[in-house]
Amino acid sequence: MTVQTLQAAQPFSRDPDWWRGAVIYQIYPRSYQDSTGDGIGDLAGIVKRLPYIASLGVDAIWISPFFTSPMKDFGYDVSDYCDVDPMFGQLSDFDAVIETAHAYGVKVMIDLVMSHTSDQHPWFVESAKSTDNDKANWYVWADAKPDGTPPNNWLSIFGGSAWQWSPARMQYFLHNFLTSQPDLNFHEPAVQEALLDASKFWLERGVDGFRLDTINFYMHDAELRDNPALPTDQRNSSIAPAVNPYNWQEHLYSKNHPDNLKFLRKLRALMQPYNAAAVGEVGDAQRGLEILGEYTAGDDLMHMCYAFELLSGDKPTAEYIKDVMDQVDDVASDGWACWAFSNHDVVRHPSRWNLSDDAQRMFTTLMMCLKGSACIYQGEELGLAEADVAFEDLQDPYGIEFWPEFKGRDGCRTPMVWESSNQNGGFSTADKTWLPVSADHLSQSVAQSEADAGSIIHHYRCAIALRQAHEALKTGTCSPMSVDQGCLVFTRAGCGEELYCAFNLTDDNATLEVPVGDWQAIDSAVTEAAPQGGKLNLGPWQPCILQRKLT
Ligand code: BGC
Ligand code: MG
Repeated sequence: MTVQTLQAAQPFSRDPDWWRGAVIYQIYPRSYQDSTGDGIGDLAGIVKRLPYIASLGVDAIWISPFFTSPMKDFGYDVSDYCDVDPMFGQLSDFDAVIETAHAYGVKVMIDLVMSHTSDQHPWFVESAKSTDNDKANWYVWADAKPDGTPPNNWLSIFGGSAWQWSPARMQYFLHNFLTSQPDLNFHEPAVQEALLDASKFWLERGVDGFRLDTINFYMHDAELRDNPALPTDQRNSSIAPAVNPYNWQEHLYSKNHPDNLKFLRKLRALMQPYNAAAVGEVGDAQRGLEILGEYTAGDDLMHMCYAFELLSGDKPTAEYIKDVMDQVDDVASDGWACWAFSNHDVVRHPSRWNLSDDAQRMFTTLMMCLKGSACIYQGEELGLAEADVAFEDLQDPYGIEFWPEFKGRDGCRTPMVWESSNQNGGFSTADKTWLPVSADHLSQSVAQSEADAGSIIHHYRCAIALRQAHEALKTGTCSPMSVDQGCLVFTRAGCGEELYCAFNLTDDNATLEVPVGDWQAIDSAVTEAAPQGGKLNLGPWQPCILQRKLT
């Protein structure tokens, strides 16, 4: 396709540090825009919507997996790392995504799922045939215990034992997720080589970076030791829902293997000449931030790690956020976090935290002021709530397994709404879309939101623009945070300026003392509060950002 007619929204940055403080827009391709009328979003649909994405002012997109897949976990089960699934288009459509995004100054990050493949990947098909084929050691195979039960007590996040029996090999194989997602054996050098080759394939095609799925699951304990049980008071449901016994174990041996770092170093070295950046997902209910620190330390591992702390079930208080940021300073002082409130795995945050409109706005502004990079999940900019999906419409096997105590991830994956009056909200012309468009979302479509000066999309644009206008918010230092009357207060400094950031995370008024200094109002619609005589009155859920020059 030709992109000559496109006007670049922002210049394409060649800065190798572009990822620091970047705002990344996450696209779940099945649900973004269908261009073929089959009820499933696709790559050509993303191309169509890139002008809109660029208009939000984001630095990059992260596209959830679009590779060849039987779609048991909707693309997180890959059967060919180097091709596009026909339902999403073909390689030339991906080239058009890159070309168009770059013309708009937007970087493209793709989601590499390397810890496991689909059971339909030719590697697994071969590996599963016998104990002596070429790929016999490419997956994690183990004999049964003498009583026929699995080799150890490891659990799958999606329910039950992490081991599945294979009659052909008379052995068990490991799967941390679905039984159809066998775990690759990273102790086998040929596996690492094959995955590095796949990564190189996409770097050569022009991607600017990777979101790396579950990087702390890559290697397992070669001795297959049992995981210890966690005391009841240490069971934490930040990774798996509370009804999932996965939370009852400390995953000491099934993940976080020290040799993960060796592979990540190789991957980083491969990425270096391309100026590509990686954000690695590190899920761990006990040691999440510590691992984030470990995996992003120095300059030869991950650029950033995706943190789960703000994907929490409970609405964050000022104390909670201070505690998280203090921990980051403590265990990841040399590292880099990437924050998100919503994604394709959790209940959309306005519903999860039961947020008022003001609170939603405040959290958005806060995200843009936090040290780290930031991910926005499609539809978040419209303020969408979690969709209610009926049992008969469920697609997510995780939800089907744990229904109704945990309804799975379909409620955050329903299609994007573009136009309120159009069939399927402008997402698709199909009679039936893969998940139903939420009727409750229609009044918040992009078209309707754009036309309404009071809608949250305009706030998202302002908050993102604020971050883009102040380098201190992207790459500057952050002072230790303090909490006063439920308000979170900190300063960011860099590039000749200091920003005072205060956020009222309560339903009450607060009066704060602004530190002495020549603080000026900033030129942004996200904040209206201004101090008088050194006192700052903040209404419920009100932010205030002030600036001063540093000499
Ligand atoms: C992804 C999930 C996926 C899982 C297994 C995750 O962390 O975000 O959507 O089901 O990895 O690949
Ligand atoms: Mg389609």
